[in-house]
Amino acid sequence: PSRIGVLTSGGDAQGMNAAVRAIVRAAIHRGAEVFAIREGWLGAVEGGANIARMGWSDVSGILNKGGTIIGTARCVAFRDEGGRRRAVRNLIQQGIDHVIVIGGDGSLTGSALLRAEWPAHVEQLLGSGDITPEQAESHPVLHIVGLVGSIDNDMVGTDMTIGTDSALHRITEAIDAISSTAESHQRTFIVEVMGRNCGYLALMSAVAGGADYAFLPEVPPRDGWEDRLVELLARGRAAGRRDSIVIVAEGAADRHGSPITAQGIQQAIAERTGEAARITILGHVQRGGRPSAYDRWMATACGVEAVNQILAAEADTEPVLVGVRRDAVAWQPLLEAVDETRGIADHIRNGNYLQAVQARGAG
Ligand code: F6P
Repeated sequence: PSRIGVLTSGGDAQGMNAAVRAIVRAAIHRGAEVFAIREGWLGAVEGGANIARMGWSDVSGILNKGGTIIGTARCVAFRDEGGRRRAVRNLIQQGIDHVIVIGGDGSLTGSALLRAEWPAHVEQLLGSGDITPEQAESHPVLHIVGLVGSIDNDMVGTDMTIGTDSALHRITEAIDAISSTAESHQRTFIVEVMGRNCGYLALMSAVAGGADYAFLPEVPPRDGWEDRLVELLARGRAAGRRDSIVIVAEGAADRHGSPITAQGIQQAIAERTGEAARITILGHVQRGGRPSAYDRWMATACGVEAVNQILAAEADTEPVLVGVRRDAVAWQPLLEAVDETRGIADHIRNGNYLQAVQARGAG
């Protein structure tokens, strides 16, 4: 039977457990053997007890749990070629040449790189006597399938990444809670949300929470935003609104690339109105806790498809990324998704994201 490894890598996200559960059970159902690679790629680099066979009941009772029961890490050793070679040795020694990776952009890029390097590592490991000629011959390629686990929703290839919906619910609940105290005191709150370079959580939580203003990495405000912000908040108050809610994405910046922070916004408001706005940085509260129903079923459906894809892979099948498009499970070549994601991130970093979107629309 095929031996499939499953790992979660990078920042954890609600729904990763649902994906692990679906992968383990779908693999067993299909007659494959399935192994957890604990602590992400670090577990492959270190080997030993980090690579453990999983049975049906090892994933019982985890569907509704946040985080990832098999652990995750942002693995430094895996960025190094020597670390990746150790991972190849440990995987081959366990007979594993199929790996399903649940992680973000960085983890998936690293996984595709490992696949590309695999034959060279095999040759070296054979030369150094770390693996036998039989092992080398029976594991000529690494099959990779990726699922995107990240609350940021920052990857091409899926309409939603695993964890985003849960994080959005958490943020919306927090905004609701903040609104009630803000209304009581007629206060302004600045709420910082996660998302790295992606403004999805900030934009959608601003809409869902009825915020007054949102700062997004993709849409740097024009110079003079401080005056416009204060004027807009004043108009809200004049119209009878008792609270003011400003959402700032952690990656927000102005048109010159200078970060726009919660403190900077607080200061801008204080200088113009004298009001001491309160700051709430939601931080990792957004990433922890129970997954939403959407994240549970979406991760389950994608996990099952990941097993289908990996068991159908042939020697020359490129790695694929499994996600959802228009409410259906979909897949595309992993490297294509990684490249397009990088392109968008570059546009945001260089401040020309909107032009790029407009040019694409026009084309
Ligand atoms: O990628 C997920 C994320 O939560 C980002 O939104 C955030 O910038 C980052 O991870 C925080 O990373 P860490 O958990 O390593 O502090």
